[in-house]
Amino acid sequence: MSHVIHRSLSATPPIAVAAQGIHITDRDGRRYIDASGGAAVSCLGHGHPAVLAAMHAQIDRLAYAHTGFFTSEASEALADHLAQHAPPGLDQVYFVSGGSEAVEAALKLARQHFVEIGQPQRTMFVARRQSYHGNTLGALAVGGNEWRRRQFAPLLIDVGRVSPCYEYRDRREGESQIAYTQRLLDELDAEFQRLGPERVIAFVAEPVVGATLGAVPPTPGYLRGVRALCDRHGILFIADEVMCGMGRTGTLHAVEAEGVVPDLITVAKGLGGGYQPIGAVLASSKVIEPIRRGSGLFQHGHTYIGHPTAAAAALAVQQVIQRDGLLAAVRERGDHLARALRDRLGAHPHVGDLRGRGLFMGIELVQDRASKTPFDPALKLHARIKAAAMAGGLLVYPMGGTIDGRRGDHVLLAPPFVVTEAEIDQIVDRLAASIEQALAGLPLR
Ligand SMILES: Cc1ncc(COP(=O)(O)O)c(C=O)c1O
Repeated sequence: MSHVIHRSLSATPPIAVAAQGIHITDRDGRRYIDASGGAAVSCLGHGHPAVLAAMHAQIDRLAYAHTGFFTSEASEALADHLAQHAPPGLDQVYFVSGGSEAVEAALKLARQHFVEIGQPQRTMFVARRQSYHGNTLGALAVGGNEWRRRQFAPLLIDVGRVSPCYEYRDRREGESQIAYTQRLLDELDAEFQRLGPERVIAFVAEPVVGATLGAVPPTPGYLRGVRALCDRHGILFIADEVMCGMGRTGTLHAVEAEGVVPDLITVAKGLGGGYQPIGAVLASSKVIEPIRRGSGLFQHGHTYIGHPTAAAAALAVQQVIQRDGLLAAVRERGDHLARALRDRLGAHPHVGDLRGRGLFMGIELVQDRASKTPFDPALKLHARIKAAAMAGGLLVYPMGGTIDGRRGDHVLLAPPFVVTEAEIDQIVDRLAASIEQALAGLPLR
C-alpha cells in the first residue's frame, strides 16, 4: 500500500513516469493526451527543451537562496518581464509558490495597504458564489465553492457574497444581456451597501471562472462595471487569474480582453507551466507605494518565495510564449477547438452549453437541453466521464456541482498552447466517445 496521502484515500492513481509534448505516459506504458494540462497548468506541454535548459543552468549556478538574505538574477529578470507585459501600472511583483499562496498574499497586501493609508476599518472581502480561489483558509474563505468549503466553514472569515456572472443559467427569459449585467452590478453595489462600502477591502473574482463553473467568461461590460463600482467606493479589485491567466484565454492576462485594469492580479498555473511550483501577485504602485513610504515592509513571507529555480523556469516559459507567438496561437487554435466542439457536440441532446475563451473551454452537461435540468448528482456523471476518458487515453478536467456546489456537471479543456489542429480533432473525438460511454453507463438510459 502507498504511504502517500493521495487525493482519494481509497485509490492510488497510475504512476506517471514520462511526459513529452502533449503526452504523459504511465508505468504500465499507457499514453494519455493531456488535454487539460492537469488543471490548466501545462501551457507549453511537457519536456520543453528551452525550459529544461534554463532550469539546468540555474540549478548549476544557484538552486536556492533565502529572500531574507538575497535576491536573485532569475527572480529580478522574471519580475522585469512580468512588469513589462502587465496591464498599465501593475509593475510590482510578489513571488510565491502557487495559486493559493498568491491569493493569500493578495488578500494580506490589500488589507495592509488600507492599514497603512489610515483606513483600518476596512476588514471585509466580497466575492462570488461558484468560484474557487484556493484551499488555504483565507483563499477558501473568499472562494464560493460550497463543496470545498462546507466542513471548514466554521474556521473561515466572513465574506460578502454575490452571484457569479453565469449567463447560461442565470439570465432570465426575456432579459437582455445588458439588463442581466446591470442586475449583477446592482447586486454587487447592494452588497457593498449592506456591509458599508467603507468597510470593504476588495472584491475578488476570477475574470473567466475556471474549475468551479467550467470556463465561463463574463458578459460584455461586467468587469468594467465592477471596476467602476470599486472605484466609486475606494474598494480594491483583485482579479484571480491563477487559472485563466498567463495566456490561457488568448491574451496574457484575461482582463485585457475586458479593457479593465485591476489593482492586484494573482497568477500561478501557466506562469511556470508546471515545470516548477510558482505563483505571483502583480500589484499596482497605488497599492504598494503607501506601504513603501509607511512601514516599508510587507508583513508576509514564506521560505520559498522568489525561488531562483522556479523563477528561471517561469522566465523561460514566458520567453517561449513571446518568442513563438503563442498568444496568437492560443486564439487561433482556440477558434479551432471551439469549432470542433460545436461541430461534434453542439447538437448533442445532453450538452447544454459550450463556452470559454482561447484554449480554455467548458462543456456543461444536462439531462434535458430545453429545461436545462442537470443530471442527478448521485450519478456522478463528471467522474464517469473522467474515468472513461482516462481509459481511452485522454486527460480532461470534469467537475460536479456546477450550478450550486451539488448539482450540475461540466468538463474543462485546457490543452497546451502548442497543441496542433490535428491533435485538437483527436481530443474532441476522444472526448465525444468518453461522454457517450459515460452516458451509456448511466442507469437511466
Ligand atoms: C482561480 C484559482 N485560484 C486559486 C487556485 C489555487 O491554486 P493552487 O492549487 O496552485 O494553490 C486555483 C486552483 O485551481 C484556481 O483555479
